[in-house]
Amino acid sequence: MRERRAPRLNRGGRSLSGLRPRPIPSSVSRPHWTPITRLGALTLTLVGGLASSGCDNASAYEQLSGAQIYERLCTQCHGPEGRALHGRGGSYLGKRKYWTRATLLEYLEDPQAYKRKAPHLSSAKYMPPLSPYVQGEARARLVDHVLGLMDALEPSKR
Ligand code: HEC
Repeated sequence: MRERRAPRLNRGGRSLSGLRPRPIPSSVSRPHWTPITRLGALTLTLVGGLASSGCDNASAYEQLSGAQIYERLCTQCHGPEGRALHGRGGSYLGKRKYWTRATLLEYLEDPQAYKRKAPHLSSAKYMPPLSPYVQGEARARLVDHVLGLMDALEPSKR
């Protein structure tokens, strides 16, 4: 079985790439469920998932935990533990004392505006506002997760 399948797959691949156009009956051009096709389907699913994060909507976040929302929208700059990545700033280390649930909600809504009230923030650094698609309970879950990360970085907890 194996010896017969491999060459069929190769011929199919070449004919698809257009290098050697040769009519191959579709029934033999490629077996339907090989590990390769399964991998292809998986790749499509993953790529589709990433692409869809670019066109979010509110219902996507209603289903997610605070940690999942954080991972999707914040980790790229703040790192999974809030220690900040790539020297861009935004470490949560030693920042717990500056924040409550209420002030953090206000900050995430409009970080640039909030800076006037929080002298410890840097005027030179930019923090993007939270996606308007993260609303209500989802927003509260995210804020609790961030406060939890700050708690975990407090000297007494490390
Ligand atoms: C493009 C990078 C980037 C993204 C994405 C980002 N941040 Fe930030 N964040 C920053 C930077 C830079 C600062 C520092 C801003 C300053 O000092 O004024 C910051 C500051 C903060 C602070 C204040 C920390 C302090 O010093 O007290 C909090 C809280 C925060 N971000 C939460 C979040 C959350 C929650 C998300 C996801 C919804 C997020 N950030 C997404 C870059 C980012």
